[in-house]
Amino acid sequence: MRVHSGVWMLPFILAYCVNPIYSGFEFTNIKCTSNDKKFFEFEYCYIKAVNRSYKYMSLKAIMHEKPYTDASANLQVLRRFKGYIPITMNVTFNVCKYMEKKNNQNPMVKFFDMVIKSYSNVYHKCPYDHDILVEKVPTQFVNSHFTDVIPLPRGDYAFYSTWFTSGIMRGTLWVYGTLS
Ligand SMILES: *[C@@H]1O[C@H](CO)[C@@H](O)[C@H](O)[C@H]1NC(C)=O
Ligand SMILES: *[C@@H]1O[C@H](CO)[C@@H](O)[C@H](O)[C@H]1NC(C)=O
Repeated sequence: MRVHSGVWMLPFILAYCVNPIYSGFEFTNIKCTSNDKKFFEFEYCYIKAVNRSYKYMSLKAIMHEKPYTDASANLQVLRRFKGYIPITMNVTFNVCKYMEKKNNQNPMVKFFDMVIKSYSNVYHKCPYDHDILVEKVPTQFVNSHFTDVIPLPRGDYAFYSTWFTSGIMRGTLWVYGTLS
């Protein structure tokens, strides 16, 4: 459809922007990066579309210097305008402390908690003495939980996480998606 004159569309565009009823979230891309492959590396990291209604993300990180007694991450949600602009603070999340007490109420941490509780092998107290698996996180799960926790308008989003152990940056996990 070509738009010849934008003015009459404005009310529709505004209604579209603020309408809180979403038709859905979709994963669009995932990027996993290891800064030091001697420390850890990704065996796989992908989004798979099984069919129109079932799409998921999975990753496996092979850890070469087990066990780990310390892990933290910076979590941030960005929204695409011309480029990706942060729309939340870059929150530092101390994984081992969290697993002891589960007392962080940040919405991104709460969402992260739900994901790893249901789909990973890391939902336990430190130390971590095994490889890391996040298996088949369905679009549907993100769809039904993410917007409950962080209300967002429709748009293209990125969830950036940067991972540290012993204060050293080890890698990043970036997940991209569209909320329509
Ligand atoms: C999509 O695939 C899943 C898993 O194989 C299956 O359970 C579901 O019925 C499929 N949905 C459609 C619409 O084919
Ligand atoms: C969040 O903080 C980490 C660590 O300080 C940094 O590497 C990363 O670039 C920050 N994220 C963004 C999107 O600025």
